[in-house]
Amino acid sequence: AVDISKLRAETGFITLDDGYVNTGSTTSKITYLDGEAGILRYRGYPIEQLAENCDFVEVMYLLIYGELPTEAQIMDFRKSIRRHTMLHEDMRSFYDGFPRDAHPMAILSSVVSGLSTFYQDSLDPHDPRQVEVSIHRLLAKLPTIAAYSFKKSVGQPFIYPQNDLSYCENFLQMMFAVPSEPFHVDPDFVSALNLLLIVHADHEQNCSTSTVRMVGSADANLFASISAGISALWGPLHGGANEAVVSMLEKIIADDMNVEKYVKLAKDKTSKFRLMGFGHRVYKNFDPRATIIKKACDTLLAKLAIKDPIFEVAQRLETAALNDEYFIERKLYPNVDFYSGVIYRAIGIPVQMFTVLFAIGRLPGWIAHWKEMQGSPSKRICRPRQVYTGPTEREFVSLEKRG
Ligand code: ACO
Repeated sequence: AVDISKLRAETGFITLDDGYVNTGSTTSKITYLDGEAGILRYRGYPIEQLAENCDFVEVMYLLIYGELPTEAQIMDFRKSIRRHTMLHEDMRSFYDGFPRDAHPMAILSSVVSGLSTFYQDSLDPHDPRQVEVSIHRLLAKLPTIAAYSFKKSVGQPFIYPQNDLSYCENFLQMMFAVPSEPFHVDPDFVSALNLLLIVHADHEQNCSTSTVRMVGSADANLFASISAGISALWGPLHGGANEAVVSMLEKIIADDMNVEKYVKLAKDKTSKFRLMGFGHRVYKNFDPRATIIKKACDTLLAKLAIKDPIFEVAQRLETAALNDEYFIERKLYPNVDFYSGVIYRAIGIPVQMFTVLFAIGRLPGWIAHWKEMQGSPSKRICRPRQVYTGPTEREFVSLEKRG
């Protein structure tokens, strides 16, 4: 066994904190989170109030610039975003190179990284004008990049952005419209999407945001840094959980709705199975985002008169887990991903696009953190230390003498 205290004595004082459970990586003015009390605020405003009163574009502005916009500011901001929604025609050929069944998160991170090949005029992280342009480009183009990845997967022609539509309407029409057929965007879907994007917009130093900061700390450009964040978000323990939740619920439905079997399996450490959508590193009481989403989910399904077995099994699983000693003791509650998938399904978003929707929501948060870090007077390249546990010095053995 490794004697950590001895190693510490030998290596000097290094804090070893696997998974950074107690290590603050930065100071930040963006998001306040109290995991015990279930509080989440963007720039001081409670998430419940923002979800109730704002549209996603206003929340983008708030996160990135620190204040709620005035009427004139939001008009300018919306106008600028609309101006940048198109993808360069040459970028369409990127999509020809991807296999039809490519995961859209892989496409998303590749195409976002590829933006730095087309917009070389906005890559300098130290030039505020270039940073501003790259922020607007990214916010505007991510929904287009995402919708194209879906169109590619179903073999339909790409639908151009339509700039008289709102941010969310535009995304839905690029996803679901087909040429030469009239397209109607359901306002309930638009509101539901708006809400989901708002509750995903920032969550302080989570895995993908820390990745964006880490990559950006080396002065990598915004597109490259965000592309890295998208890759981190794809992991099933992070944003990929929303996709995993629906796959898990479908499996339970196919298994005679045997919820108890899966609760039991999740408690068995040898099974390596976890209840996806349960537990959170920081929230040890409830996830306020899950509360908002569950309410929206109830309303939407009731309004659309949708009877989705996924929703029924989700409710049964939640009840079973919340009454189980194992989950109570470990403070494992449904997180934001647990019900978001059900709403996405009701809107008609295919399951492989769920994490892409999370990325569109999280983008302003990533940008706000990248910008805050670049502007910090105490900015340094992130370079964690380690505690080495490999062999001590040994003599080189020539090839012919090795075992
Ligand atoms: N199902 C069953 N047991 C669980 C679960 C779960 N979903 N989550 C945690 N546990 C158990 C662990 O096995 C551990 O038990 P032990 O103390 O007996 O060893 C204990 O609860 C603590 O779990 P950790 O893994 O140490 O908690 P950590 O803070 O590192 O992980 C995480 C948090 C990754 C979210 C975890 O709860 C998990 O894997 N959940 C399922 C995946 C998921 O829903 N991810 C989305 C997170 S939210 C987001 O990114 C937007």
